[in-house]
Amino acid sequence: MAKVETFYHQESSSLSYIVYDLVAGHAIIIDSVLDFSANSGQISSQFVDRQIEFMEKNQLTLVWILETHAHADHLSAAYYLKTKLNAKVAVGAGIQEVQQTFNTVFNYQQGKATTDIFDRLLQHNDQLSFGDLTCRIIATPGHTSDSITFLINDNAFVGDTLFMPDGGTARCDFPGGSSEQLFDSVQQLHQLPSATKLWMWHDYQPNDRALRYVTTVANSKANNIHLREGINKTEFVELRSKRDANLQVPTLLYASLQVNIHGGRLPVSEVNGQTYLKTPLQIANNLQQLRML
Ligand SMILES: [Fe+2]
Repeated sequence: MAKVETFYHQESSSLSYIVYDLVAGHAIIIDSVLDFSANSGQISSQFVDRQIEFMEKNQLTLVWILETHAHADHLSAAYYLKTKLNAKVAVGAGIQEVQQTFNTVFNYQQGKATTDIFDRLLQHNDQLSFGDLTCRIIATPGHTSDSITFLINDNAFVGDTLFMPDGGTARCDFPGGSSEQLFDSVQQLHQLPSATKLWMWHDYQPNDRALRYVTTVANSKANNIHLREGINKTEFVELRSKRDANLQVPTLLYASLQVNIHGGRLPVSEVNGQTYLKTPLQIANNLQQLRML
């Protein structure tokens, strides 16, 4: 039987999950987070350390560190967990495309090969085992090209492929994103047995309601404000495109991506021993001459 332990990271309004089997005590962790203050540059590990404590207390052995996609709103704790607990990191094979895109954005001339960073690149229908449990991979591109869902018995961990029914869906305007693909991916999830639990990565608590992060296929199909049954692809693409056109770039987009395409590794330090994160500037035409020579 699969046990799920949920951890809420308030600063990024996101959920991270530990799933484990009750017999062998083997565990996976999905989408863990490093604490990061963009203002001060401070990076710390309080959140993920609580998860490590939980595993220690329950005598769990971490087998896989999983990411549903390359996130744009937090720094992944995958590498921290890997170095501390010696588990393997697995992501969707689409990460290669994301890495290529952002190697260009950040001018990483010799980007590290994805196979040097991640222990396993997952394809649709691949399976991972831990204890007596099996995790099946469902490719669910749309929000990003590397988005995947982890299906463990009747639990689907959907990342940002869906939000709670009153939250709708996540944006599709990142490089490699596609609202057409998101529509198809959600249909795939909605075809799972109706009692399947859908565990969300985000909950922005619309209308100030209490935090909620798990629903069922039946409920999502009947009530998702963007993608309930009866809404066709054209309608959804139109609605999603309209919303995406008005969204701001996420605050931590550049900080997150330069760490997350490297599986949670921080940039190398400069000669003064200090580590920096880069922001590519979009300089207005009339300000080009302000650059130092
Ligand atoms: Fe996301």
